[in-house]
Amino acid sequence: LRQQWLDRIKSAGDSASIEEVRLAALGKKGEISLKMRELGRMSPEERQTTGRALNELRDEIDAALRARRASLDDAALEARLAGEWLDVTLPGRTRPAGTIHPVSQVTEEVTAIFADMGFAVAEGPQVETDWYNFDALNIAPEHPARQEHDTFFMHRAPDDDRPPHVLRTHTSPVQIRAMQEQGAPIRVICPGRVYRMDMDQTHTPMFHQIEGLAIGRDISMAQLKWVLEEFFSAYFGTRVKTRFRASHFPFTEPSAEVDIQCSWNGGALKVGEGDDWLEVLGSGMVHPNVLRAGGIDPNEWQGFAFGMGIDRIAMLKYGIPDLRAFFESDLRWLKHYGFVP
Ligand code: PHE
Repeated sequence: LRQQWLDRIKSAGDSASIEEVRLAALGKKGEISLKMRELGRMSPEERQTTGRALNELRDEIDAALRARRASLDDAALEARLAGEWLDVTLPGRTRPAGTIHPVSQVTEEVTAIFADMGFAVAEGPQVETDWYNFDALNIAPEHPARQEHDTFFMHRAPDDDRPPHVLRTHTSPVQIRAMQEQGAPIRVICPGRVYRMDMDQTHTPMFHQIEGLAIGRDISMAQLKWVLEEFFSAYFGTRVKTRFRASHFPFTEPSAEVDIQCSWNGGALKVGEGDDWLEVLGSGMVHPNVLRAGGIDPNEWQGFAFGMGIDRIAMLKYGIPDLRAFFESDLRWLKHYGFVP
């Protein structure tokens, strides 16, 4: 009997069959338990010897069951460890690190240069009322600039009486907001997204501008020229001359378009040398009507303003021929220009 049970225990291969064997031997209706119950019908002598033998057998079976269970658990653990082992000497799996978008990198760079000259950053909404985008900037409702700007107008239901909104076509409305919020004097730059219906090699419907505004009692065009030359020299890392050409913007008087000195050497553009010129921004002295719209008295204050395309000066610095590539997120392109390691 003993050997029979021990063999059954040995051949139990998992915890369920061990439990089966345990019930068959020691359970309420197990063979050993039933035999023990029979002790009552035996004579005292018989009971003593059989009883002791049954007790020993029960203990032995119990111990054998425990031992079998323990060894199965060990084996299971072994198997798990063997399956889950980790070779810590394997080389790591590298994940490519993300980087800041080139336009954001250039925006930060430009902002830092102007910050060194005492300009704070101001921001405004990209969905702007047409008052801020046009009227406050001295662009009358019938002014052709509204059409020239290829404006995206927000759709309005006929009974909607909120003021008309547009996607801002330039960062100049932030001039007005800055004036209203801060009053004079002011020295701010306003970087941000702007929108125009235009798409070719050098235009995307969304692009980036940075606006500059300085208002004080004796701000002059000479200071504008100094600030811009300092900026371009710092940005391109070489002394850069600027050329002012008379121009027209409704929000500045006088107005100037600004070119930077460059050379086209066998198709390769070099900024800061040679005797070619490249147009990079619009600027001028803030128009009295614009100061008034911003709540500033033009008899007491005057200022300069400029607006420049961030993507454009990024293209110039990195020799990028196509603006659209900036917004395509093509990894090969980003790597080629060193924007991604
Ligand atoms: N807002 C003008 C543009 O988008 C640029 C500009 C800004 C010109 C400030 C003069 C003064 O073309």
